[in-house]
Amino acid sequence: MDAGQFLKGPATRTFEQAWADDCGAAHCLSVANGTDAIELVLRALGATGGEVITAANAGGCTTTAARLAGAVPVHFDIDPRTHCGSAAAALALVGPRTRVVVATHLYGNLAGVAAIRAGLAAMGRNDVRVVEDCAQAHGPRAADGPVGSLAAAAAFSFHPSKNLGAPGDAGAITCGDESLHRELVALHQYGWTRRYAAERPGGRNSRMDELQATVPLVKLPHLADWTAQRQAIVKAYADAAPSALRPVTGQGPTVAHLAARRSRSAPARASQIPTPAATTSSWPAAAGRRRPRTPSARWPAPAGCRAGRRSW
Ligand SMILES: Cc1ncc(COP(=O)(O)O)c(C=O)c1O
Repeated sequence: MDAGQFLKGPATRTFEQAWADDCGAAHCLSVANGTDAIELVLRALGATGGEVITAANAGGCTTTAARLAGAVPVHFDIDPRTHCGSAAAALALVGPRTRVVVATHLYGNLAGVAAIRAGLAAMGRNDVRVVEDCAQAHGPRAADGPVGSLAAAAAFSFHPSKNLGAPGDAGAITCGDESLHRELVALHQYGWTRRYAAERPGGRNSRMDELQATVPLVKLPHLADWTAQRQAIVKAYADAAPSALRPVTGQGPTVAHLAARRSRSAPARASQIPTPAATTSSWPAAAGRRRPRTPSARWPAPAGCRAGRRSW
């Protein structure tokens, strides 16, 4: 700050390198927030004009990002145990216009990225790219590597509520492919391929500032300890909660972003937890229904947005 460099300075560069290392990714680009991160990835992967398959309970963020990128969001249903999207449901929606499948790691739990990738390969659809939405999953490791390195690219949010939070809005994109990274670098700053040369269509301004980069950089060495504390707290809630509040448990490790439980009358039952916890009703999914009934899918149907026609 004293040096008068507020954007794209040393803190931002150091954070990008540290986060790439943490995720086991070759590249990391910081951006203004997690929704921008998804939108820019979708643009860079050529989703514009095609369809983006996304979990129906992904908070609406991917839906928003897909529409901003000029793609049609198609919603797939969730696995009722994990509340992450069901790989089988996603694969059932793949059609001729599908360009990207977004796998959202929800509540700190792992989405089935490997199953989606394997399914696409088995269908001969290597043209369909898989993107991780890691806004709620900072730091977990899947069997085949750390979150953020499992697919073509991964989008992160560092919103203050996230496990690794900035003081304001912030986000990042990790990827392994250098040409994809170069495209993202251009798109996040007016489409510039070099200063003032706006050569890439679809470019805009989405930068993380130095202050936003500094705080997660300082917090990063504590992330593993804080995650362990979160895991202990989630376990304490699980031990204390009445059985009518069924836990949402992930497959594999969780970074315990939220202590999610299922209930038909969530606010009433949540108040039975004998722990001083802030509770809220989050994305009430109707798992097992043929038609996803989660909020993204129930938002007033925006023009050109549809919910998984091929599955029902
Ligand atoms: C799963 C998920 N994806 C994307 C986002 C978007 O992140 P941001 O709020 O930084 O735009 C969020 C933020 O709440 C989220 O929880």
